[in-house]
Amino acid sequence: MIERVHRLGRAAFGVLRRPLARAFDGAENPLNHLGAMTIFFLWIVLVSGIWLLIFFRTSVSGAFESVEYLTRQQWYLGGIMRSLHRYASDAAIITILIHIVKEFVFNRYRRNRWFTWVTGVPLIWMIFPLGITGYWLVWDELAQYVAISSAELIDRIPIFTDSMAGNFLSDELLSNRFFTLMAFLHLIGLPIFLVFGIWLHVFRLTGPRINPPRRVMAASLLAMLLLSAVYPAISHEQADLAMTPQTLRLDWFYLHVYPLIQAWSPGWVWVLLVGTSTFMVFLPWAPKQKAEQPALVTLDYCNGCERCVDDCPFGAVEMVPRTDGTNYSHEAKVDPDLCISCGICVGSCPTATPFRSRGALLPGIDLPDRTAAALREDILAAGRNADSTRITVFACRDDKQLREIKKAGIHCVEVNCMGQLQPSFVDFTLSRGHADGILLLGCQDGNCSYRFGAEWTEQRLGRERDPMLRRRVDMSKVAFGWKSPWTEHNSAIDKFEAFRQSLKQ
Ligand code: HEM
Ligand code: SF4
Ligand code: SF4
Repeated sequence: MIERVHRLGRAAFGVLRRPLARAFDGAENPLNHLGAMTIFFLWIVLVSGIWLLIFFRTSVSGAFESVEYLTRQQWYLGGIMRSLHRYASDAAIITILIHIVKEFVFNRYRRNRWFTWVTGVPLIWMIFPLGITGYWLVWDELAQYVAISSAELIDRIPIFTDSMAGNFLSDELLSNRFFTLMAFLHLIGLPIFLVFGIWLHVFRLTGPRINPPRRVMAASLLAMLLLSAVYPAISHEQADLAMTPQTLRLDWFYLHVYPLIQAWSPGWVWVLLVGTSTFMVFLPWAPKQKAEQPALVTLDYCNGCERCVDDCPFGAVEMVPRTDGTNYSHEAKVDPDLCISCGICVGSCPTATPFRSRGALLPGIDLPDRTAAALREDILAAGRNADSTRITVFACRDDKQLREIKKAGIHCVEVNCMGQLQPSFVDFTLSRGHADGILLLGCQDGNCSYRFGAEWTEQRLGRERDPMLRRRVDMSKVAFGWKSPWTEHNSAIDKFEAFRQSLKQ
């Protein structure tokens, strides 16, 4: 069932990627950078927020006037900053939402990847109060509505003895101290927690992508500036606790639960919020997935070169002092709780070479469930079974192209991730005559299931990263299925046929 939801979700992402792929080159597609885009939007929120803070007065009477001054008198800068502050906050909610759905449908939240998923959940609990307290500070009719509804919600928590809603019975009762507390939460408390939360969220990942490509940043900033100029953010009438606001323009990104407080009850809204979060926290284990064996180091073949440490995207390998008495100073050690069995380390290991005799193909690091020796056997079998096309296709196990190519009856070699393919396997396939051409069918450009598999493969075969492909290999016989000339909507079969034609020529 859950796999079907994943498949449908992936198909939807495929459709969503296409229009964006026309504006942004392959790996630059914004859908590859949702976490980084969120961080970029938060930077905009911070910078614009600093400008607003310079003019903001944290008192019940001064707050509304100071925001009005920025919006009306200083519209050319303060007004634009206020609008940017609002629209960047909204944009962050959109990217977070798509980010969550994407990590879910691409199955990047289970097994040893649970940590990044679970630490994402508290981020939602920080970002919403951050936005909500922001609305509060304007102290207009919307702020009044948000303040009173939030107070009703908080009063439902049995640990508070004094009623918070009591603060909002009249303008006289509303103290500046209470207002300053909101300002503290919005300006200092929640942002500090959020920064720490994001750090923890990406803590286990090697080289997390926290900056989107420049073109994506420029395009989104420009779009928000335009929006700010056309639809500047403005306030409602000033809050008046003696009156009930009649018409409100809700920001549905942040305030969507508020109408529910009135429609249901605060208690049921808590059930919804806590229930959804609990569901999300336990999602990585529902249902439990079959365990895979982690990468295994064989010291006899490990020379301590550290390449596996550099290339593992999940920080699962470290170098430790040698334990086998040989002259090498260090050896690789895999943390089984971090390893997700992608095989990228095997692709980086200089000793994973198929040119060695069959029995001796035991690299310094290998995947017990998909060994380098088995990969070599599959290459030989593909060579024997190849038809006149004599193309060996390597396809990633998580990608739909594998299914397409198998369905078409084309013989292919399955890898856990393209990064598992050590360059000498490409050399071996071509120079030993097991094929005339190699087609690599990896995930969409910039959307590698294991983060860096495709990128490292391009660099290794492009002779920019160790272990490099030997010079004797003619690269016109190797095609990267995720790069141009193919587009996002070419099927695996299209790519196979086009490559076959180009080889003939
Ligand atoms: C403020 C909100 C968030 C920010 C700024 C953020 C940022 C990031 C960044 C920068 C990455 C690393 C991308 C990479 O280098 O591959 C990432 C990965 C990830 N995030 Fe988030 N994220 C946020 C919220 C969430 C939430 C709410 C969830 C889910 C509950 C989530 C789940 C994940 C997962 C599963 C990964 C991928 C881990 C992997 O590839 O193993 N994130 N996020
Ligand atoms: S299999 Fe993947 S996650 Fe495990 S150690 Fe190797 S590169 Fe790291
Ligand atoms: S890449 Fe291979 S040889 Fe180098 S440290 Fe890792 S396991 Fe050892």
